Amino acid sequence: MRIGILTGGGDCAGLNAVIRAIVKRAEDYGWEVIGIKYGWKGLSENEPIAEKLSFKDVKNIHRVGGTILKTSRTNPLKTEEGKKKVLENIKKLKLDALIAIGGDDTLGVAAKLYEAGVKVVGVPKTMDNDLSETDFTFGFDSAVNEAMHALDNLLTTGESHDRVMVAEVMGRNAGWVAAYAGIAAGAHLILVPEEPFDLEEVVEFVKKRHEKGENATLIVVAEGARLKNADVFAKEGKIDEFGHVKLGGIANFLAEEIEKRTGFEVRSVVLGHTIRGGEPSAFDRVLSTRFGTEAVELVKKGKFGYMVALHATKIEAVPLEKATEKMKALDSELWTTAKKLFY
Ligand code: F6P
Repeated sequence: MRIGILTGGGDCAGLNAVIRAIVKRAEDYGWEVIGIKYGWKGLSENEPIAEKLSFKDVKNIHRVGGTILKTSRTNPLKTEEGKKKVLENIKKLKLDALIAIGGDDTLGVAAKLYEAGVKVVGVPKTMDNDLSETDFTFGFDSAVNEAMHALDNLLTTGESHDRVMVAEVMGRNAGWVAAYAGIAAGAHLILVPEEPFDLEEVVEFVKKRHEKGENATLIVVAEGARLKNADVFAKEGKIDEFGHVKLGGIANFLAEEIEKRTGFEVRSVVLGHTIRGGEPSAFDRVLSTRFGTEAVELVKKGKFGYMVALHATKIEAVPLEKATEKMKALDSELWTTAKKLFY
């Protein structure tokens, strides 16, 4: 057997631990493993961009962030030509099966290729934790830990200057990262896409804190959060091949408005990609290793068109087309709890 692996979409911590686990388990079965570079791009060029992987080369990569296979946001199904190239390159590489590691975009392509006859298994990945059919994705815990440390730092510098610190975190259109990191850091206010906010209420919240002597405030805002009856903040004209706008800018807007309306000193910080890089946490290394190992077992069983998923503490198989149907919004119970801690 010869299986291919690719990593698509935004990188995150844990990807290399998945790759390592797949290679280890595949070699246990005497299989060959081909690493496809740059996600779907590596399979949709005239010639495939790929290299053989062996465990001796990947045995220590579980500790390293990012992906040794590199990644892209290439959507090969944009054109019939692209789909044809993928099918041709799978043949050229003589792949008996493919393991696609990615988020909703990457796995959405995998689901369609399965329908076209490709023997593919999915591994869910995203720091956003916004995939509906798995309780957690690897990359999320690592990102939350990185964000938490940054927010702890912002709290101390904000306290030293009696400033309002507004920190923007990634997470696309879900508030998982903002809510978890905000709770962990003890943020005074968290703003998420799931509950559009009123600017005047935010200003009043900060003023009330000052009135009771709480002169330093830490606000965590998700990049996809927005004002009531308004659109998300996005960079003009930057749309990727899956139609995603480039989010960003809400923290700066909020900081300016709060400073203008209160006269308090305000600083904004965009944590951005810094929380996506970096080493995987223990939780993510374990989840990644479990996902990679079980993905190979699905290939062994011929259970194609499925992805591995975490359900409570169990790893189960979920049909790919189901896995990419809708975004997993922030859990309402968790969000209710988070709001109880605002002060
Ligand atoms: O999906 C992961 C993610 O980090 C999102 O949280 C963020 O909005 C997006 O990717 C950023 O994309 P890029 O790295 O292409 O700028």
